[in-house]
Amino acid sequence: MLIKNYKFDVDKTKTTDENLYKKRREILKLMGITSSIAIFPNMLNANDKYKLETITPENKATTYNNFYEFGLDKSDPSRNAHTLKTRPWQVKITGEVDKEITLDIDTILKEMPIIERAYRLRCVEAWSMNIPWRGFELNKLLNKVKIKSSAKFVQFKTKYAPNEMIGQKNPYIGGFIKYPYIEGLRLDEALNPLTLIATGMYGKDLQNQNGAPLRLVVPWKYGFKSIKSIVEIKLVEKMPESTWMQLQGDEYGFYANVNPNVHHPRWSQGEERFIGGSFFSFGKVKTLMFNGYEEEVSNMYNGMDLVKFF
Ligand code: MTE
Repeated sequence: MLIKNYKFDVDKTKTTDENLYKKRREILKLMGITSSIAIFPNMLNANDKYKLETITPENKATTYNNFYEFGLDKSDPSRNAHTLKTRPWQVKITGEVDKEITLDIDTILKEMPIIERAYRLRCVEAWSMNIPWRGFELNKLLNKVKIKSSAKFVQFKTKYAPNEMIGQKNPYIGGFIKYPYIEGLRLDEALNPLTLIATGMYGKDLQNQNGAPLRLVVPWKYGFKSIKSIVEIKLVEKMPESTWMQLQGDEYGFYANVNPNVHHPRWSQGEERFIGGSFFSFGKVKTLMFNGYEEEVSNMYNGMDLVKFF
């Protein structure tokens, strides 16, 4: 199992987690290692392990992005996303709940138990990073409503504001996608303690290009599930569509669990290009089942044909 470090962080307060993160960095500095490293068993060869354990440098994670609302090139979001207004910001929890609610971002930030966790982010395009997120478990936010037993899935929606998101206004910039960007999870996936709503990374608030002020992080699924700048969370009875299913359902399924044995029709998912900070932490590494979180999440898929439900 890879990335054990999140376990240290579960259910701790912000201060404890920040201290832990700092302490880990201090120890590593003493050892002459500048990037943060977790404790891992021997699943990969030493070089692959080193790569996957390295924290991706902040300037890479904030300038190499996918956020099509701001353009299709990886460098577009960091150049264009400053136009997104993240205050005031409200999030609605709607659908199959006893009472729909609207929450203000600042209330959410005040009330949610904020933690820090490093997770690997594996994009369907076969590159990956390791990012220290700040945020809270989605299940803690969903506790604010009473979910009806009819709810089986959760749908997420990004803000729709063509005047703030140039790609929503101009299809040549935004890639002819039907906006707003939408995503979905099964209810048990949404309630899994690994599923985070990120409000920050690298010990700071999220930058717009990374999905400020709130974005989903589901570390065992391909990165496109991690929808950015969320304004609505809707409990639904039936499996919702996602933007990528709408675009190309034969290539991007609802589940999108990282799986080195199920390849994209146009490229292999067996390996990934890890974006690290040094010469030694760049290059190809083996992709792990459920992105290394198999121990924590595989029980949710017992008996399921992961080729069919890709
Ligand atoms: N959310 C929205 N609203 N729009 C997007 O284009 N891209 C997704 C996901 N969330 C995307 C999105 C994809 S494909 C990936 S890989 C991740 O965000 C990238 O997150 P990062 O830029 O913070 O690394």
